[in-house]
Amino acid sequence: MGASGAAAHAKPQLPAISLREKMMLQKGANDPDYFKDVVRPRLYEICGGDAETVQELVKDVVRRYQGIAGLVLPKFDPPKNMMVKMPGLPRKVAPVKPAEGLDKNFDVPLVLDHYFDVQQPGTVVVEPRKGNDRVRVVSANDGVDLYNAQGFPSEGLAYVVDRLREYGAGGKSEILLSIAGLPTDKKDPVGSALAQTEDLIHQTYPYVSGYIDNRWSPNTADLPLLQTEEAYRQTAVLMKQLVPHKLRLMKIGPYEPSGRDAMLALVKAFLDGGGHGVVTTNTFKVPKDQLPAEVRGSWGYPTAGRSGAFLTGYMLRSVRDIRLAFPEADITAEGGIFDGHVGYDAFKTGANSIAGFTVYARYGFGQAPRIMRQLSEHLERDGKTMEELQAEVKELARKGETMPSSTGEKRSPG
Ligand SMILES: Cc1cc2nc3c(=O)[nH]c(=O)nc-3n(C[C@H](O)[C@H](O)[C@H](O)COP(=O)(O)O)c2cc1C
Repeated sequence: MGASGAAAHAKPQLPAISLREKMMLQKGANDPDYFKDVVRPRLYEICGGDAETVQELVKDVVRRYQGIAGLVLPKFDPPKNMMVKMPGLPRKVAPVKPAEGLDKNFDVPLVLDHYFDVQQPGTVVVEPRKGNDRVRVVSANDGVDLYNAQGFPSEGLAYVVDRLREYGAGGKSEILLSIAGLPTDKKDPVGSALAQTEDLIHQTYPYVSGYIDNRWSPNTADLPLLQTEEAYRQTAVLMKQLVPHKLRLMKIGPYEPSGRDAMLALVKAFLDGGGHGVVTTNTFKVPKDQLPAEVRGSWGYPTAGRSGAFLTGYMLRSVRDIRLAFPEADITAEGGIFDGHVGYDAFKTGANSIAGFTVYARYGFGQAPRIMRQLSEHLERDGKTMEELQAEVKELARKGETMPSSTGEKRSPG
């Protein structure tokens, strides 16, 4: 595929959507409860229950209307007490972000601009990839769980460079691009992945404020070959060499307490190599025979990646582990954050920012301003700004201590 932006593969036809349903979407964009109770069920009906078609249909409508987003979406300014500085970013930002995978090909950034200061498009790979066959995304449990086995579908680097260039003209968000160099050469998996990482960064660095290295996708062959200390160290060294002034993060998957030391060793290797920090966590790998019956029936893969409420406990434990082990690291908390209350716990346990996928699939992006307001209220109640809270948490971590969380950690995952 050339830089023209042609589609990577023929996509299934999207169902038609009426004017009335578009109006419903517009109302849902501002009202998260209406989105959850009215818009989301209607979208699933229109899309025959397929979660990925719902996501694509919404994106398709949004893409067509994003030029007028400023007219139909109210301007939301994040509360002042939550603004923070992040390494590599030129200004203070609200530390509430959309998770990677929501806008894989950077197709709807102008709409996301209305809700977020920072966007995390991708994961982008060099060559266009179809990913796994459908059905590969299923929503369960009234949308608090998402299962996926997408396998890095991507329009590819050239397409995304075009989108980034277009956005550069008028966009307002800081962009942290999620990238994956894949181990395509069986004889030299790490070398081939590094070469692709270099290509991904070379072609995108003028347009972004930082990168998230992602090598934790379920059902993508050979990725575990890259999940070694040496591969992480080499990746961080390369990233630092190429973009010394931009934010450089790695993304990890959830782990059990018994896997803590091994995971922290990977994080240490990345930080030693020059990385700033970690995004934790990606989806939880579930074997097919443990999937709920309504998902198992349509599932064509040996495993699925589980997102949503199930991950809250994993996310909080991991944030705390990493903050304690690496007091200076930059940490993004992801996994089962549906509101500003669990979000606040993530900050108290050590996060510098939070991000979500399942929350926005369930409530629409109108939930982002609500999360920010709830966070701001918690901060007011505790009589501090987000920057003060983060400094306090870091100071405790340097002494080997942590701040207790109040809600989410008590929930057992599952
Ligand atoms: C359908 C789907 C696609 C995803 N695609 C990506 C991706 O391309 N890159 C990535 O790093 N994470 C991806 N994720 C993981 C999310 O970014 C996030 O880490 C995970 O879903 C946990 O957050 P949540 O509980 O808020 O959903 C995807 C998740 C889902 C459900």
